[in-house]
Amino acid sequence: MNANGKATLTLQNGTAVDLPVYSGAHGPDVIDIRKLYGQTGMFTYDPGFMSTASCNSTITFIDGDKGELLYRGYPIEQLANNCDFLQVCYLLLYGELPNPEQRKDFVARVTNHTMVHEQMQFFLRGFRRDAHPMAVMTGLVGAMSAFYPDSMNLHDKEQREISAIRLIAKLPTLTAMAYKYTVGQPLIYPRNDLGYTANFMRMMFAVPAEEYKVNDVLVRALDRIFILHADHEQNASTSTVRLCASSGTNPFAAIAAGVACLWGPAHGGANEAALNMLYDIQKNGGVEKIGEFIAQVKDKNSNVRLMGFGHRVYKNYDPRAKLMRETCHEVLNELGLQGDPLFKLAMALEKIALEDDYFVSRKLYPNVDFYSGIVQKAIGIPVSLFTAIFALARTVGWIAQLNEMIADPEYKIGRPRQLYVGSQRRDVK
Ligand code: CMC
Repeated sequence: MNANGKATLTLQNGTAVDLPVYSGAHGPDVIDIRKLYGQTGMFTYDPGFMSTASCNSTITFIDGDKGELLYRGYPIEQLANNCDFLQVCYLLLYGELPNPEQRKDFVARVTNHTMVHEQMQFFLRGFRRDAHPMAVMTGLVGAMSAFYPDSMNLHDKEQREISAIRLIAKLPTLTAMAYKYTVGQPLIYPRNDLGYTANFMRMMFAVPAEEYKVNDVLVRALDRIFILHADHEQNASTSTVRLCASSGTNPFAAIAAGVACLWGPAHGGANEAALNMLYDIQKNGGVEKIGEFIAQVKDKNSNVRLMGFGHRVYKNYDPRAKLMRETCHEVLNELGLQGDPLFKLAMALEKIALEDDYFVSRKLYPNVDFYSGIVQKAIGIPVSLFTAIFALARTVGWIAQLNEMIADPEYKIGRPRQLYVGSQRRDVK
């Protein structure tokens, strides 16, 4: 990167340090502080990365004020309306949308890897049937490193490519396995004459006793959920994957770390939390009780948040939420669920929150998770599986980011520093 300016930092003792400034294609400029410690003996302090760019990246751009999300320069709205998930996977991984021949080849490569090692199901059986699917997914994805030792070397481009295809292809199979195991139904093997998302839905919902009919509207809705969740710049789980992989560990272990991070309710777990919140309000009186619930959310001592609202980066609106809202209508219409009480409750809650000064002044808007839970529930996906669906979709983003990091000549093991505020040196007596 070439500096196009400099910032001068003047310390209290009068020392002035020049720091290079770089501009990106979009977004704020960055001040390069890599040499700051060497020059001043000081670190910067930024817990939560509020003002820190941890890397440079060509994959995803978010303009939080405009409510814009671009994958490789393409607006998310155009991708959601014109592409399918595997085209988006190709775009994220290789930087361009595939031409027809590349698309065919990519689909064939992914499809060829949909089955998982048969031994994987014995590993699955070690879990309790009531284990949370994200606990199972963290285990299964991590266990892939025990099953595919031929694609473990992160520094070998070819092995990284095989592990990428394996992860994208097998995540739906593993997610469906985790689900079938919880409900005690026979595992359904993939069928490679179906598309990626239709195949996943069949593995989820088919039973050997009956033929499964693919519903194109629902397939398209789930495919859109996958597209909207495929990447989101340097969020917590992506940063986890980068940091984990920076040690040179294998790709499966790094992606398993991302799955574990995603599980948290402030991140991927929010869709589950949002739907559970709606259930709770419904149980306690429904629309009538929204006022009471909002009062609780506004009470600083209650620790209650309006789940599915707010975002670290989007401070205007979340463009994914707008698309998901549209999909929500389509799915509920298709299934004749327009009067669904949870959806009505969500609409009422959204309206009240958007008019309330607490939310307006803090720039809190619905995020993608506010609607994705309702869509998934309507499709038949159980609430506890929502975050696993998010993990399935985000896997490609994690891989693209990991590949980008490894290929970066400036890449180093991630090693943050700290401001130590503990005891002075003392002796054991
Ligand atoms: N409900 C009520 N108050 C909120 C909410 C919310 N959902 N989100 C933020 N606030 C308040 C917060 O209390 C604080 O108020 P004050 O300034 O008076 O102390 C202010 O808004 C700023 O909040 P913050 O926690 O400093 O903001 P953040 O950028 O650190 O948090 C967030 C972002 C997503 C963690 C947070 O908005 C949140 O917890 N939302 C609910 C969980 C959720 O829906 N997460 C999904 C994010 S989208 C999916 C993904 O990309 O993973």
